[in-house]
Amino acid sequence: MDEQTWNDVDRYIGDHLGVSDAVLDHTLSSSRAGGLPEIAVSPPQGKLLMLLASSIGARRVLEIGTLGGYSTIWLARALPSDGQLVTCEYSSEHALVARQNLDGAGVGNLVDIRIGAAIDTLPTLTAPFDFTFVDADKESNADYFRWAVQLSRPGSLIVIDNTVRGGAVTDPTATDPATQGTRALYEAVRDEPRVSATAIQTVGSKGYDGFLLARVLDV
Ligand code: SAH
Ligand code: DHB
Ligand code: MG
Repeated sequence: MDEQTWNDVDRYIGDHLGVSDAVLDHTLSSSRAGGLPEIAVSPPQGKLLMLLASSIGARRVLEIGTLGGYSTIWLARALPSDGQLVTCEYSSEHALVARQNLDGAGVGNLVDIRIGAAIDTLPTLTAPFDFTFVDADKESNADYFRWAVQLSRPGSLIVIDNTVRGGAVTDPTATDPATQGTRALYEAVRDEPRVSATAIQTVGSKGYDGFLLARVLDV
């Protein structure tokens, strides 16, 4: 199987199951026009985030890594009208694009974009969050995971993107900071008794990667 097949199947999934609409498409095109990197979650992945957050009845969502607000819109759509989403973004340029997209999507009133390094923002946030999506600088993923646990309640879900990286995670010659950060994440999850976790390998329009899912336990 090659990337052409993965793209075709993602398109097939979208054609049948409804993983895009004009608002979401506009978010991607305005992000591209604004010069943002094209690294948002794929449409099927975005819908998975919405389904996971809505399945646990999430009312407060935390996101680390906003970019142009594509995953943010999916997550905000899982929320009730009095829900809240806090999303952390380092780049004020990305945050500006995201703000326009979120307002255009009709969910801007639910979303608080915190500009700055997430590691500085996280200690200022009030717990608990029901759902956390981590998708920023991979070097910091172990720290973000520990913060996500700290900001959770029993039953909260934590989803972390890009935890396979084309298989680099097990390639001994891959020593780049993002891969080292990914390995540090798995060690942090292994060493955290307050979660039950798995990771799933994925293929699709974003290539071969995966995500890690952790449920915070009643301890
Ligand atoms: N979740 C988005 C994609 C996020 S891309 C989506 O799927 O639509 C990663 C984002 O993390 C980028 O916008 C980048 O600027 C931001 N980022 C990188 N380092 C960061 C940091 N230290 N703190 C907060 N955000 C950071
Ligand atoms: C990159 C970051 C992501 O979050 C992603 O899903 C894909 C790629 C990157 O930095 O290249
Ligand atoms: Mg990602």
